[in-house]
Amino acid sequence: MVSSFYLTTPIYYASGEPHLGHAYTTILADVIARYRRRAGQNVLFLTGTDEHGQKIQEAAAEQGMSPLELCDLMAGRFEEAWEDLGISHDRFIRTTEAEHRAVVTALLERLHDNGHIYEAEYAGWYSVGQERYFTEKEIGPDRVDPIAGGPVERIRETNWFFRMSDFQERLIRHIEENPDWIVPATRRNEVLGFLAQPLADLSISRPRSRIHWGIPLPWDSGQVCYVWVDALTNYVTASGAIDPAAPREKRGFGDLRPSRWPADVHLMGKDILTTHAVYWPTLLMGADLPLPRRILAHGWWVVGDTKMSKSLGNVVDPLDLRERFGTGAVRWYLMREMATGQDASYTPDRFLTRYDELSNILGNLAHRTLSMVKRYRGGVVPDASADGLAAETEKALTAYRDGLERYRLHEGFAAAMNLARAANGFVEAKEPWALARHPKGGNELDRTLATLVRTLAVLAAMFEPVTPIKAGKLAIRLGLGSVPLFTELDGLQVGGCSVTIGSPLFPRVDPD
Ligand code: MSP
Repeated sequence: MVSSFYLTTPIYYASGEPHLGHAYTTILADVIARYRRRAGQNVLFLTGTDEHGQKIQEAAAEQGMSPLELCDLMAGRFEEAWEDLGISHDRFIRTTEAEHRAVVTALLERLHDNGHIYEAEYAGWYSVGQERYFTEKEIGPDRVDPIAGGPVERIRETNWFFRMSDFQERLIRHIEENPDWIVPATRRNEVLGFLAQPLADLSISRPRSRIHWGIPLPWDSGQVCYVWVDALTNYVTASGAIDPAAPREKRGFGDLRPSRWPADVHLMGKDILTTHAVYWPTLLMGADLPLPRRILAHGWWVVGDTKMSKSLGNVVDPLDLRERFGTGAVRWYLMREMATGQDASYTPDRFLTRYDELSNILGNLAHRTLSMVKRYRGGVVPDASADGLAAETEKALTAYRDGLERYRLHEGFAAAMNLARAANGFVEAKEPWALARHPKGGNELDRTLATLVRTLAVLAAMFEPVTPIKAGKLAIRLGLGSVPLFTELDGLQVGGCSVTIGSPLFPRVDPD
């Protein structure tokens, strides 16, 4: 049976341009999606844009547009960026879509029917930047949002509330009983630390007089749904679990219609872990829906040692890097450089170092191997034993699979690059140029060339999730037609393949 895999990125605010941080999460998801598809799973990969709320309403007003005009423009911008960066999402969701609005309405009704909603007066410190309230303790004496340091405003108004506090015990138990539910462990501990304090109820609405850009509450048209409740629900909308057109008691809550829910993994940055690991699961519990299987919170990209921010003018544009180095190089850098879960610092030097790996190790291995097959064997791979690097290949594949399945992608790709490094070492040890001159070197030269071509075929499979276009090109040059699947590697025959040399896969660049 084909197993399925459903993964999501956050949906990005339609108020700002896509930057390196957004690109990181989306590429991370893409690499996992591609790896899973190649391993034979039926993947649903979801991304999209978060289009309601105060932040969008204000950004649109500033630019003299209607909120929807701004969202149309920005959703297009994100879709183009993802196309340029080779993202293979199956669905791009926009929270202004009719289907999503209907699912949010159904979810709100369900929470209301289940008795988890009440009305009350609320006073608190709100950050428009993060679209959420923070406690007095969180904002500290300077009264700034603790995530981005932006302003907070004092708001006092009547809201509808979700009894989040009722689910605190159940949530703690879930986290304790499922040690891998939130990864990495440091992030899990952070959430448990947060839950050591009494959990407040969640305000789930805003008066329409203040914020008109949202989904009206089904029982109070004077209030719109809080944007995080609206946004988080996108994961259920896209799964198809809820049929909003069905009668109120038969929409799929508790008794799901066949769908992709629950998600196998929600990917996000650590900035939005609380909303995903506290708000979202308690809302799902309140609506009788199963929880996602895993939550992965990665670290932040900083520039040098400073936060990336529009006001500092140090935002790194992934599309700019792509122009100069190509899509594969940007993807490789982001995946190889950041240890999943920890912060990483973008510097042009590190970018070039990572690019050099592609060019000097993988690119060089491909170029010299193809050239030697051409020069010594007329471009046809000899039909000889290709197991000169069998042990190294086996070891690399095990580490690679482990890295990609346990969300330690940097380790998986390090293993792939190490295999290319070992293959270059093999060339130096075997000295094919000397074998070619030696009267009895023919058989050994055949074995050496066959081993190198086979290793490159394995490398094409390993690099396909991260550098899909270049891996495809490599497979064609090896005469394989397409990148082999992992299941095809064991019996793969390279003898008889006709190779072509072509231009360098990762051309050297002038560092200036
Ligand atoms: N709209 C909300 C998410 C709703 S999901 C139901 C949101 N949007 S956002 O546009 O601000 O995107 C936040 C996400 O972008 C982070 O969680 C992270 O995945 C990514 N990044 C944004 N800046 C980042 C860095 N500097 N470094 C790494 N990733 C960061 O929050």
